[in-house]
Amino acid sequence: MTQVHGFDWFKGNHPDDNEKHLVDDNSYFESKERLEALIKAQQLDNIALLHELDLSKDLPAFFDDYAHLQFKLVFLDCGLYKVVHHCIEHFWPRLTPGGILLLDNINHETAPGETQAVRELLPGLPIRTFPFTQQPTGYIVKPMQG
Ligand SMILES: C[S@@+](CC[C@H](N)C(=O)[O-])C[C@H]1O[C@@H](n2cnc3c(N)ncnc32)[C@H](O)[C@@H]1O
Repeated sequence: MTQVHGFDWFKGNHPDDNEKHLVDDNSYFESKERLEALIKAQQLDNIALLHELDLSKDLPAFFDDYAHLQFKLVFLDCGLYKVVHHCIEHFWPRLTPGGILLLDNINHETAPGETQAVRELLPGLPIRTFPFTQQPTGYIVKPMQG
């Protein structure tokens, strides 16, 4: 019954002025059609579901339509402050206690916005790292209480 929900606006990264020196405008673009084809080629289209939306503002409306969703793993891979902030605000309450927030760019010099958003919204929680890979750069296990 486990599903994988993928979220992207399929427009690439468009950093704000204060992040423009860190990431190229329009970088990381990939089309929804190509990703759908790759999912289908692996016969994963029954469990992997894509959602095209702006992750800096559209999650409240999304969760109005998908109010049943609860996650055991949330993987954030964008690094831009506005996006990571909005995602933590709206995915964290839907992460099951004991579940994992996986952060591709936390504490990395190329994505200070990700660290900033985590420090603002989840202060004091232990950031764990993997001994066997550089990225994701960290993860947080949601406490069983709170
Ligand atoms: C570093 S790429 C990661 C993509 C994918 N996880 C991968 O590993 O190939 C960042 C992604 O964030 C998406 N993105 C950037 N800003 C966004 C926004 N405001 N809303 C939704 N997606 C956004 C980009 O389109 C891009 O696909």
